[in-house]
Amino acid sequence: MSTSEIMSISRITLLAGLLVAAPAIADSPGLGTKITEADVGAWSITILPDGTNLPPGSGTAAQGAKTYAEKCVACHGEGGKGGPYATLVSDAPLQGRGIEAPKTIKNFWANATTVYDYIRRAMPWPNPRTLSDEEVYGLVAYILSENKIIEKDAVMDAKTLPQVKMPNRDNFIVKFPDKI
Ligand code: HEC
Repeated sequence: MSTSEIMSISRITLLAGLLVAAPAIADSPGLGTKITEADVGAWSITILPDGTNLPPGSGTAAQGAKTYAEKCVACHGEGGKGGPYATLVSDAPLQGRGIEAPKTIKNFWANATTVYDYIRRAMPWPNPRTLSDEEVYGLVAYILSENKIIEKDAVMDAKTLPQVKMPNRDNFIVKFPDKI
């Protein structure tokens, strides 16, 4: 048998295999129940750079300062200037390139909306998802204001937060320009 004959036989075998497998994929074992929009909604909390999915509500730095003192200071230090964990407020410039460069919210993060997404999703470690949407707006306002990215009395909400321009914003190559 020539090599090309062997190859065409193996193609036919593969095709036959796929045809046999197709009905098996289509048939569901009939387990579980259909998931509802509301079920998904509780987990679908991703906020896009343009602010899509930001919840209703608002917060100011003054409100955020109170929550910060209660729920964040132990790990991130007075005024966010550094404790046992990440420094949230710093004027240190981004020095060096690549993974080793010390990155902060001010010198690195491209979108203010990511600060909201991150805090709501992950903080306070180890009790994530315990903050109210309003508390998160306040904390974001507090961190951005301490970093002198927004005015001290600025109100952060679904409209104002996406308009905040982060200092390092233009140094990123944007993959989805229509989402900015
Ligand atoms: C028990 C400790 C702990 C508490 C409390 C805590 N965090 Fe964190 N936080 C961490 C750890 C750990 C990380 C990730 C590791 C790191 O970057 O050092 C982190 C990272 C962060 C980051 C990302 C920083 C960056 O530049 O990557 C933000 C923003 C943040 N925390 C905000 C908060 C806020 C706001 C609160 C209060 C609601 C809070 N954290 C409470 C431990 C904590």
